[in-house]
Amino acid sequence: MAMIAYKAHDIEVKVVDLNEERIAAWNSETLPIYEPGLDEIVKERRGKNLIFSSDVHEGIRAADIIFVAVNTPTKTYGVGAGRAADLRFIESVARTIAEVATTPKIIVEKSTIPVKTAETIKQILAENSGGVEFQVLSNPEFLAEGTAVEDLLAPDRVLIGGELTEGGQKAIETLASVYGRWVPDDQIIRTNLWSSELSKLVANAFLAQRISSINSISALCEATGANVDEVANAIGKDSRIGPKFLKASVGFGGSCFQKDILNLVYLCDHFGLPEVAAYWEEVVKMNDWQKHRFAAKIVGSLFNTVADKKIAVLGFAFKKDTNDTRESAAIAVCRDLLTEQANVTVYDPKVPADEIRKDVLGDEENHRLSVVESAYAASEGAHAIAILTEWDEFKDLDFEKIYGSMSKPAFIFDGRNILDHAKLVGIGFRVSGIGR
Ligand code: UGA
Repeated sequence: MAMIAYKAHDIEVKVVDLNEERIAAWNSETLPIYEPGLDEIVKERRGKNLIFSSDVHEGIRAADIIFVAVNTPTKTYGVGAGRAADLRFIESVARTIAEVATTPKIIVEKSTIPVKTAETIKQILAENSGGVEFQVLSNPEFLAEGTAVEDLLAPDRVLIGGELTEGGQKAIETLASVYGRWVPDDQIIRTNLWSSELSKLVANAFLAQRISSINSISALCEATGANVDEVANAIGKDSRIGPKFLKASVGFGGSCFQKDILNLVYLCDHFGLPEVAAYWEEVVKMNDWQKHRFAAKIVGSLFNTVADKKIAVLGFAFKKDTNDTRESAAIAVCRDLLTEQANVTVYDPKVPADEIRKDVLGDEENHRLSVVESAYAASEGAHAIAILTEWDEFKDLDFEKIYGSMSKPAFIFDGRNILDHAKLVGIGFRVSGIGR
């Protein structure tokens, strides 16, 4: 929404949320999320054509187009628990819109949702709205965290799905004209509703599948002496495969990949396609395996016991340049190490200590987990360092100094392959990275 406000000064963008605290944060000097370049854009347009408000009803009444961007987490209860998307927030928004709106509106699904959700929204609107006309569009978002501003400035494509009726097509063109302020028209794809909804899930499933594929090969590389980065480079030169998303890692995280694949799996099962469901489910299973494999490798290398040993964890966010920790591989690795009774000391440049403790321990206490303010403090006296996020600052650390402060033999487990391993071995470290 900030990008639309930034690119189209004549459009008034009002972001509304019931959560007053969150709205207050968006109106403050410190925005509630860290995303490179976002501060500048928000601060330039805020109070002009970008308004943050907790008056949801007024926001609905005044709008011509309503983007629905509420959470669609994986269900934790009842039918489909652990796989299906929880649509209660979507449904509640649809009911509120139907109740409050007095003029025709275009409703845009921006949240990632299961296929056919537009149908649900349409039905709720139609049966509760007292005759007001609504068009429902699907307009999934493809930005990635950490590069959101770049991705929005120059998207590979914008996808808009709508009904094949005259009203539906008109609504598509209205939304296309918003993006048309800065996105070339041939990059704006128009489809039917279901194709658009499904494309979002499939795009994430394909991306995650590439990571699980290369991660599965990383295990084979470790067993055979091949180097996974070299293999990735060699296969990525094939223009049919391409070089992106082939970086082996301790496992993908983030709020989307796992959730969207499980959602896809649930859909396939629902439509009587268990073989297709099983195929995609393997992508998530491989990812889980990789996280546990990494923790097990640490334990194995440290002579099969980490009990009472200090392990420094550098990086906790699910990727660099974000403070988001949802489904971060670091959570699973820290838990596994704590189960082995290691003393785990975490440092992340952007994630607050409270968040780290909550993610790893929930409401429990565990004196073995500590969070510190620098990579140097985390590493002091440690038997091993595990790098779990590829923050740029880790590449510039003074590893000679770090080595001097550690218990020997000192190990580095580079879960992101961001360091020059040969150089570290030169200093005296025992280094292993993913696929090496
Ligand atoms: C992902 C998609 O890339 C976006 O297109 C999509 O819009 C978004 O989900 C969403 O559905 O909201 P995001 O999760 O923000 O974006 O970040 P990614 O860059 O895709 O990274 C996801 C995870 O995969 C990270 O943990 C990252 O470290 C890992 N990864 C990525 C690898 O392990 N190897 C790679 O080669 C690439």
